[in-house]
Amino acid sequence: MSSTISKLLTLIISAFTIMQITSAGDPNILTDFIAPVGTQVDGTFFTFTGFRALLPPNTPPSAFKALKASKAEFPALDGQSVSYAALVFPAGKINPPHTHPRSAELLFLAAGSLQVGFVDTTNKLFTQTLQPGDMFVFPKGLVHFQFNSDTQKPALAFSAFGSANAGTVSIPNTLLNTTIDDNVLALAFKTNLATIQSLKKGFAS
Ligand SMILES: *[C@@H]1O[C@H](CO)[C@@H](O)[C@H](O)[C@H]1NC(C)=O
Repeated sequence: MSSTISKLLTLIISAFTIMQITSAGDPNILTDFIAPVGTQVDGTFFTFTGFRALLPPNTPPSAFKALKASKAEFPALDGQSVSYAALVFPAGKINPPHTHPRSAELLFLAAGSLQVGFVDTTNKLFTQTLQPGDMFVFPKGLVHFQFNSDTQKPALAFSAFGSANAGTVSIPNTLLNTTIDDNVLALAFKTNLATIQSLKKGFAS
């Protein structure tokens, strides 16, 4: 009797484990791929050319730039649970602290050097300085940043995501470029209204 119960329990636990594994990425689709109605589906539909902008004769950007190849820019990714971003860092520029609510990020440094880091749910910082050829993983949902501390050379990184739409929540933008009450922010940051208003000024467009 007790062995039947324990077998049943094992079965239930493994069923839950499998369910968790299958829900680790975007929802599964029941077709090979998804194409918007009216789209001509051929090789071109499955090709993304947006990263050609990184190559000469195009001039490199003067501010940090994230070129995304997610579902919005590349509709063939719908339902495939993958996407990419090319991250271009002029000398001395940062990608401010942010999170991706729907995916981990696997960053590959192609050129330059890059200081990267994330903070876990116990508030512990994990940081590293990467060399070309290195990869770094930012766990799903955690606050992270990248910084090209080199004052001369640009850096170029490519990030892969386990979601066609990983989403980005920029921490400075979320807190200082929305209409959250200044009193709420002053209390949250243990400071006064003048400090909050001064911080908000940098975001007013
Ligand atoms: C502030 O938010 C607006 C509207 O979303 C956006 O267009 C602008 O770029 C943001 N400003 C900064 C400095 O991020």
